[in-house]
This record gives sequence, C-alpha cells and structure tokens, in this order.
Amino acid sequence: MAQSRPISSLSKVFITTAFINFLIGAFFGGWMSSSPSTMALLGPLHGEINPFGWLTMMIYGMTYAVLALSTGFRPPRAEVGWIHWIVAELGVVLIVVSIMLNSSTMFRIGLGLQAIAPVIFLGNLLSAVISGKKSGRNFPQDMMSQSQTLNPLKRSDTLQGSDRVGQRGTDVSLMLFLVGVWWIWIQSFFHTGVNPGLGADAAKVLIYYGWIGGTVWSVGLHLMPRQASTGHINAKAASFGQVAWFAAVVIQAVGMIVNPSWQGITGRLLGIAAVYQGLLFLYSLSSRNAKSADRPLFPKWSHTAWSAALVFEVLLGIFLLIGLDPLSLLSMHLLFLGFATSLLYGVGYGLFPWFFGGVKPAGAYAWTQIFCSLFGFILMGVAFAGFAIPGWNSIPTSPLLAVGGFLAAIGAILFLVEWPFLLLRGVKE
Ligand code: HEM
Repeated sequence: MAQSRPISSLSKVFITTAFINFLIGAFFGGWMSSSPSTMALLGPLHGEINPFGWLTMMIYGMTYAVLALSTGFRPPRAEVGWIHWIVAELGVVLIVVSIMLNSSTMFRIGLGLQAIAPVIFLGNLLSAVISGKKSGRNFPQDMMSQSQTLNPLKRSDTLQGSDRVGQRGTDVSLMLFLVGVWWIWIQSFFHTGVNPGLGADAAKVLIYYGWIGGTVWSVGLHLMPRQASTGHINAKAASFGQVAWFAAVVIQAVGMIVNPSWQGITGRLLGIAAVYQGLLFLYSLSSRNAKSADRPLFPKWSHTAWSAALVFEVLLGIFLLIGLDPLSLLSMHLLFLGFATSLLYGVGYGLFPWFFGGVKPAGAYAWTQIFCSLFGFILMGVAFAGFAIPGWNSIPTSPLLAVGGFLAAIGAILFLVEWPFLLLRGVKE
C-alpha cells in the first residue's frame, strides 16, 4: 500500500543535501582514483565534503527523522532546525571554496560555522526534550500503526537496555564532535593558510572515530535488532564495547598530542575495540530470527550491506592491531566507506522506502548497486593497503585504485539517484 510521506521537511532537506554532497564527493573520489594527478587538488575538497557534507549531514537528518518516532519529542521551534541546516551546509561550502581560493579568512568563517552547527543541533535536541517533558510524549501513532517499516522503530521494552547504551553513545559522540570542531576552529586562528596545523590530527580522530564512528555504531545498535529481526543485543556486552571504543578514541587523540610514540599502543587499543564491536554485531546479525512475525525483515541486499559493513569494521580493527595509522587512507576508508557508508546503504534500503513515501527499488538494481559498492571498495582497499603496509608494495595499486574507485563511486551514485528517480516514477511499496 502506498504510504503518506511522514518524514518532516527538515529531515528531508538534510538527507537530500547529504545526497547531493556525496554525489559530488563520490565523483571526486572516483576521479582521483582514475587520475592520481588530481589528488593534490581534489583530495582536500573530497576530505571535507565526505565526512562533513555526507555523513554528518546524514546523521543530522536521520536524527531529526527518527526523534519523534523513538522518543515522542519534537523541537518546539521549527526555525531553529532551518538555521541549523543553513549553518551546517554553508560551513561545508565555505570551507570547500576557501580551499579552492586559498583564502584563510573564508576558511576560518567556514570552520566557525562547522563548529557552531553541532551547538545548534544540541540546543535543538535539548529544547525538544525539555518541552516534551513538560507537555508529555507525543508519538505519531497514526503513522506508526499504518506503516510496516516504521512499526519496528517504536520504543520496545525488550530493547530498552541496548537502546539506553545507543542513546549514551550518540550523546558522547556529539560531545567529541564539539571538542574536535571547536579545537580545529580555534587552532585556525594561530595559523595562516587553509591548513589548521598542529594538533589537528588529534581533533580529526575525535571527529572521525568519535563522532562518525561512534554515532554510526550507536544508531546501528538501535536499528539492527529492529531492522534485521535479530534478538536483542546484550546491553552489557554492547556497553563494554562502547566504553572501550570511546576510551580508545580519547587515548588515541591525547597520545597524538602528548607523545606520538604511544601510537604503537593507542592505535592497537582502538583496533581491539573495533574488532570487539564488529564481532558483537556480526554475532547478533547471525542470530536473526527469520520467522519473527512482529518485525518485518529487511531486504536481502540490506542484510548483505550490513554484514559487509561489520566485516569491514573488523578488518579496520585488525589493520589497526597490526600497527596501521588510524589516519591513513586505508583506515579512513575502512571506517567511512567500508563501515559507515555500507551500513547506511543497509539502513537506507530498510528506511528510505518510508522516507521517500513508499518507493521500492527493484532487486536487480539494488544488487547491482551493492555489488559495485562492495567490490569497488575491496579493490580500493587493497590498493590503499599497497600504499600503507610495508611489504605490500608489489600490489599493482594504480589499476586497482582506478577500477575500485570507479566502481565504488558508481555504487554510491546508483544509491543516491535511485530514490528521487523512484519518487518521480511513483513506484510504490
Ligand atoms: C565513493 C567512493 C570513494 C572513493 C573512490 C574515494 C577515493 C579517495 C582517494 C583516491 C583519496 C586519496 C586522495 C589523496 O591522496 O589526497 C581519498 C582521500 C580521502 N577520502 Fe575518499 N573516497 C571515497 C569515499 C570517501 C568517503 C565516504 C569518505 C568520508 C566520509 C572519504 C574520506 C576521505 C578523506 C578524509 C581523504 C583524505 C583527503 C585528504 O586529506 O587529502 N572518502 N579518497
């Protein structure tokens, strides 16, 4: 049955903006992979657009989308959300333009907006909770009882324990993001040019591993038992993994400042936490209950994307354990593209049919998209491993990167364009 379009305009705009940003970011990635001479020019643009324009905007949009469903709270003043969107996107745009023009003033303004955006986000969420506590929770009941996809997103007694851990994870991730972006902004006043300078690597660890890794993992903790019909994830085991992860992120960042020779230990702690978390989720995913009547199963391609994301998380952990730098191209792409983006593909195939008003992708299309993305990423990853790991330099990195980067970019583009295309064609669930 065709569903109404219950997602708020604000979430839709955040998610659509994230899509547009990733179309550009993935295109730049594919271009650099096939033509390495463009890396010096496009690398910094791609490195801004993807973590901030794609994953961060997507996290903002998804949070606004599921806030009312999962908590029954709504931000009391709609205009604050719109200001948040303008500040967040303008920050990305100004940083990209400033890098192209080598303008340090514009760069600082962009970094400032990038630092202020999560403050507005936090304020908006807090005001939703405060006003919701006064007026009581207000769940969109009609919408939830109508929709098969939404029903499992409701609060559930059995999932209370792991939900609490997930909630704590998103809170801590946001705090680490605030520290990271404010740090980079403040530091930019002590340097000229568009390079934020010393100490920025530690801030990047807080943003990449703390904010993006931490949030994606926590959202996964809420969604996996619901979307994948797994039983509940043991809350104590999840809590242990989460504490280990955030502790390792902070130790890694502090170690980078205090004594870079600690890297041998701090990177490995991060590796252990990543392996633990990936295996915990994989174990839970493998115990999914295919006969569960009250929770609809997500499509098979969604399951494949979820499984691949978790395998890539374990691989990230193993590479960190053998001493790979957490900010190497291989580590960052295992985290961002292998883990976070693949997981978003999995989540997206489960949720976007609802976000986009009941549209449903054809199986062949979805499989092609998943194949290009995963196979492309594997080839890219092998090429990046050839750059990063001593002794792996016999790998033919250039052709692998060219083919892998091209396929991964095509996979991303296929995912991004299918939803508006289906919406225009009116293909319904
Ligand atoms: C769509 C597929 C992707 C492809 C084909 C790709 C390809 C590349 C390539 C070839 C580089 C090397 C550039 C250089 O050496 O300067 C690179 C760098 C980078 N990529 Fe990606 N990438 C993809 C997706 C992503 C995603 C999803 C993220 C984050 C959300 C990301 C974040 C980064 C970062 C932070 C750098 C370092 C940029 C710098 O500081 O120079 N990439 N990518």
